[in-house]
Parts: sequence; structure tokens; C-alpha cells
Amino acid sequence: MKCRSCCGDCQEVLGLGEQPASNALLKSADEHEETYPLRVAVCTTCWLLQTTFDVDEKRLFSDEYPYFSGQSKQWVSHCNEFAEAAIKRFGLNDQSCVIEVGGNDGTSLLPFKGRVAGVWNIEPSKSVAAASEAAGIPVKPYFFGTPQGQQIQADLLIANNVMAHTPNINAFAEAIHATLKPGGTATIEFPWALNLIEGVQFDTIYHEHYSYLSLRALEPLFARHRLKIYDVQELPTHGGSLRVFAHRTDVACPRVTSAVFEARRREIPLTVPETYERFARRARGIREQFWDFLGGRYQGTEIVAGYGAAAKGNTFLNFCQLNRQDIPFVADTTPAKIFKFLPGSRIQIVSEKMLIEERPKYVLILPWNWRDEIVEKLGVIRSWGGRFVTAIPELKIT
Ligand code: TMP
Ligand code: ZN
Repeated sequence: MKCRSCCGDCQEVLGLGEQPASNALLKSADEHEETYPLRVAVCTTCWLLQTTFDVDEKRLFSDEYPYFSGQSKQWVSHCNEFAEAAIKRFGLNDQSCVIEVGGNDGTSLLPFKGRVAGVWNIEPSKSVAAASEAAGIPVKPYFFGTPQGQQIQADLLIANNVMAHTPNINAFAEAIHATLKPGGTATIEFPWALNLIEGVQFDTIYHEHYSYLSLRALEPLFARHRLKIYDVQELPTHGGSLRVFAHRTDVACPRVTSAVFEARRREIPLTVPETYERFARRARGIREQFWDFLGGRYQGTEIVAGYGAAAKGNTFLNFCQLNRQDIPFVADTTPAKIFKFLPGSRIQIVSEKMLIEERPKYVLILPWNWRDEIVEKLGVIRSWGGRFVTAIPELKIT
């Protein structure tokens, strides 16, 4: 297989089986669903980690895309803090334009509204685009990197957790260049592949994520598209993210910060094949550990409920081949998800209230990145001796 970025040769890292699209919730338990091979491979030239099979984007980011950014308090404050810092750092004012790629329901553009000349959310998924419009954040409804995208230009272009979502990463990089004003900056956030590998976060691998990004893999890609990364910041979001700051190279570029040199140094293990072999071994070990936990419950009668119908949960459940005999239901607070069924495992999503009524012995937190928030709000399970479980990077029961 050839690398989607540089066309170099790729080596397979881990197979996660045949899996359906991880955000495609089912309306009934017996609805037909398509499955696709889910495997990751790494390019031995540019070290981009990537899926080997492309599912059509339009199947993945459908009109009913159920993920709404505004649902998470932590994410909302992350966005507000970033907006304040960006307005200061880039001197944004009533002449400036801020554009976000895949801005979902408009959550991260809201704090810019009224403080700059204009904001635009380039968002093709209708369900979240409608929420953005309703919040007063105008939408351009196309996939970034397609020809419609060339009319507007930004002083600040934000692309948070979206660059991994495109099969054509070269077109995306070229569109960043085209959408930036000459002195503008693009800030791009992504779950850092270094954390994915070191933290065995194999559940963040799913078809919506075509690439698993690192500074190492982005630098040559951006160079080919006349872009340069001049700063990076490490962030706690999504299990450890990286935010890169990129500038056009056809105009004077800011000096590269020491943080870039430090991140390059930390990423050295990503250029060693054994790193990927160890990762695959550890992922399979987590599955065995979880099977042991399920098998070892008292007479198999203690309920293990799931919490958080996140996409990553589906990769985990389906990699472990679990179904409602193992986990009878998964609770979630997103109204659009409740009473639907998880793809693959076909476990039903219920409300938080229903989970509490069932008094489960264990609550498996699927989106482990929200563990602290969830443990705090669901403390009531302690009153009947309930315990919280996370499986990654190793089984933890508290
Ligand atoms: P994410 O990791 O992709 O943000 O998905 C988190 C999922 O967990 C999403 O479906 C919303 C759900 N969730 C709750 O139901 N309650 C909560 O308190 C939190 C933090 C998340
Ligand atoms: Zn490559």
C-alpha cells in the first residue's frame, strides 16, 4: 500500500477486524449495516500512520452526524481560552476574518463573534451545520479541499480535530494555503500520534480517522504545499493533542520556536519500526485483560454498563467482539443518541437516568478522555457499591 501523503511504502501495524462506520448509530437492533476492514499501517518514508481502506467520506459524515461539540463543558472552555489567546497573539480586530474547518455546531467560533469582521464555519454535515446557523455562526456547506473552497481567506484558520478526517490529506494542505491570507496563521489540532502509540489508544483508530498525525509526518506534507510549522503546543484534549501553528512560506514566516525542536526530538520513537510492533502487542494485551475482567465477574451476574456512546467506544467494543450479553446498555446524555443502537455491537443507548435506575456494579467509561468529568457527575453509583472501569491503557477499576 502507498502512503496517502507522500506515496511511499507502508507497513501494516494493527488489524482491528471488519468494522462499521463508528458514528453510524442504528435505529433498530436488526438494521443492516456495512462493515469495512479496519487496519492501520505506517509509511516508512514520512512515518504517517494511516488506515489502509478508505470509506467514502459522504457515508461517514452523513446528514445525521450525531456528534455535537457544545455537549462537553470541557471542550467549550478549551475553545473559549483559545479564542482569547488567539485574539491577543494575532492582533485580531474588526478587520479580521476567522474561518474554521469542520466547525461542527459553531462552538469554537462563538467567542470570536462580534470581535472580528467575520467568522465562517466550513461544515458539510447538515445536522451540526443547522445548529451552527441557529447559533448565529454562518456556514459554508462543503468539504474543505474541494473546489468550492477557494473564495474566502482568513487571518486565522482553525482546523480542530478535522485534518485526520479527510482521505485526501494533500488537497487539505493545499486548501490551507489557499484559504490563508499571506500573513495569516492556521492552527491545527489533532490527537497526537505519539500519545496514541505510547498510551496504546488503539480505540481512537476508526474509519473517520484516515490519518494519525504527528509533527514528523506533517512537516514534509506542509513543505510540499508551501506551508511551514513555526510553533506547537501540547494540549490535554482527546487524550493528548498537539496544536501546530502554520504559515505560508511564500511570504516572510515567523521564527521557529524551541517547542518545535523539542516536539521533533520527542517524536524520534515514531521513526523506529519496533515502536509499532510493541504498540500492536499491547493493544491485543488490553483486549485479553478486558475479556478476563468480564469472565471473572461474580457468577457473571454483575452488570457492566457502558457510559458515553463515543466513536472510540465502538472501536473498542468491536475489537473485543462484545455485544449486549456482555454490556447490556450504554448511557449517553446526547438526546439524538438515546434509544439508538451502537454500530457493530448493537448495544442500545439509554439515558443517564436509566443507567442509574439499573444500579450497575460496574460502569465502563468508553470515552476515557472524559473520565474525571464523568466520575464526578456519576458519583451516585458509589451509594450501591458501583465502580468505574476504564480499559485503556490498562484495566483500571476504581
Ligand atoms: P467524545 O469523546 O467524542 O467527545 O465523545 C464523548 C461521548 O460521551 C459523547 O457521546 C457524549 C458522551 N458524554 C456524556 O454522555 N456525558 C458526559 O458527561 C460526557 C463528558 C460525555
Ligand atoms: Zn508517507
